[in-house]
Amino acid sequence: MTRTDRVFDNGIRLLLGDSLAVLRDLPGGHVDAVVTDPPYSSGGQSTAARKADPANKYQQSGTKRTYPAMLGDNKDQRSFLAWAALWLSECWRIAKDGSPLLVFSDWRQIPVMTDAVQAAGWTWRGVVVWEKPSARPMQGQFRAQAEYLVFATKGRHARATDRCLPGVFRQGVDTPRKVHLTGKPVPLMRDLLKIARPGGVVLDPFMGGGSTGLACLETGRSFIGIELSPEYYEIASARLAGESAEKSGGA
Ligand SMILES: C[S@@+](CC[C@H](N)C(=O)[O-])C[C@H]1O[C@@H](n2cnc3c(N)ncnc32)[C@H](O)[C@@H]1O
Repeated sequence: MTRTDRVFDNGIRLLLGDSLAVLRDLPGGHVDAVVTDPPYSSGGQSTAARKADPANKYQQSGTKRTYPAMLGDNKDQRSFLAWAALWLSECWRIAKDGSPLLVFSDWRQIPVMTDAVQAAGWTWRGVVVWEKPSARPMQGQFRAQAEYLVFATKGRHARATDRCLPGVFRQGVDTPRKVHLTGKPVPLMRDLLKIARPGGVVLDPFMGGGSTGLACLETGRSFIGIELSPEYYEIASARLAGESAEKSGGA
């Protein structure tokens, strides 16, 4: 299979394709951290609700912005667990010993994601909270005001910092700069990257619009990003290449 593989001279490498297939071609033991935001396959109690368009599942009604389609967000719970364990196993192989893993999830999916992380061989170390002050109020019940990151390491943690990092990050969604339906704020990603070795290589197998990559650029880390959607791949390429030159292209 031919796939696009762009390498820029600013330390950014972007691969277009299905992450599971692409990951299988990457060499073992060479990245310093895995930080990723996969499709959650969340958003409902019934199969039909889960298979709904992510633009309806994850956007507040009345929101006017439209984004390119987000792919792969429609798995049932059993296939989600099997699939997540497969790509997380590949990430485990590609990571150096002691590397941290951070995987986004929501309240519905965090139990299955912690199972998948451990099934793939990672040592589960905790859950980090992203508090979103802009979450919509919900009459008569608790506001869904947070998303979560499963934190794990490949065996014994090789610490990248002596600092004590917080377990809760409060950060608003940056709507004007958002290029992806479920895009994460770059300042949040910069804060989270404090867990990753300075100057190291960060892998994101579901890069979307490239927020993790931008945070890597801004903090002096290298980045390997994978995306299935050609539209988001082009958006991320434009955001991350900046003025830098492509070193090698389209395999
Ligand atoms: C939650 S979004 C990531 C958003 C990203 N963190 C950002 O801030 O822009 C997940 C991305 O994974 C992509 N995706 C879904 N299935 C995929 C697969 N099998 N391989 C690679 N990318 C996939 C989707 O198209 C989507 O852009």
